[in-house]
Amino acid sequence: MNLKYRKMTSPIGIFDSGIGGLLIAKEIKIHMPNEYIIYFGDNANMPYGEKSKEFIKKCSMKIAYFLYKKNCKAIVIACNTMVTNSLDIIQKEFCKKILIFNVVEPVIKTLVSSKKVGLMATPATIRSNFFKKEIEKYFHHLNLDLIQIETPLLAPIIENGLDKKKINSVIESYLKHLQSIDTLLLACTHYLFFKHEIDSFYHGKVRVIDVQKIVVQYIQKKLHENNLLSIHSTKNPIFYTSSSASSFFQKQVKLIFGKEVFFKQNTRF
Ligand code: DGL
Repeated sequence: MNLKYRKMTSPIGIFDSGIGGLLIAKEIKIHMPNEYIIYFGDNANMPYGEKSKEFIKKCSMKIAYFLYKKNCKAIVIACNTMVTNSLDIIQKEFCKKILIFNVVEPVIKTLVSSKKVGLMATPATIRSNFFKKEIEKYFHHLNLDLIQIETPLLAPIIENGLDKKKINSVIESYLKHLQSIDTLLLACTHYLFFKHEIDSFYHGKVRVIDVQKIVVQYIQKKLHENNLLSIHSTKNPIFYTSSSASSFFQKQVKLIFGKEVFFKQNTRF
């Protein structure tokens, strides 16, 4: 179906390898409470950060197609690892049919006032070189320094909701490599759960980018421009996972969306 046949009341599909995209869903709920959200967390294949480019491409295309078949008016790739490894093929396949948003492009543009940017991401994101290329594309005339570090331990322990103290000590051991920066980009949506702790680590001296805010403002603007913002409240959100949803995932969803939510496990995925 073509984009022009999508309706305001059609759902927004959001996807990630697990819980990371929930904070994007939360921000959408706060600023666009009438939107009908369908979420997909590919927890059977998590962590994507350890997978090959081919694997990430194949799985993200499958999820995008799944959400497209649910009649979504827009999809949000709420996973940096999927964006940096498969945005091009998703755009090629779906750009005329559906609006495509992602958690990387709107964020990169906000780096204009930075001089030394630290970036934490999964190994597959760093390997893709996506951020480096995009920054060179937009800011080649500026003297912008980018320090990227792979933080492979983080997403899996956050996904499993292990104790906060342990997660904080892992985060601190990584942040030691990112001193003397003026801006920090948490380039994995799982890490956004710890933005507050990371802010305190730097005592407010480093700008930790507000990824969900920037991304959702952009989505709202584009939905409005396309006459696709929902003005009446629609259905309760649905949360799909490719393997059973952990109690931590379910707890987070209920904290954000209350009790009126549906969980579905897509075993054929
Ligand atoms: N949330 C994902 C991201 O933004 C990564 C987690 C994973 O490795 O699956 O990169």
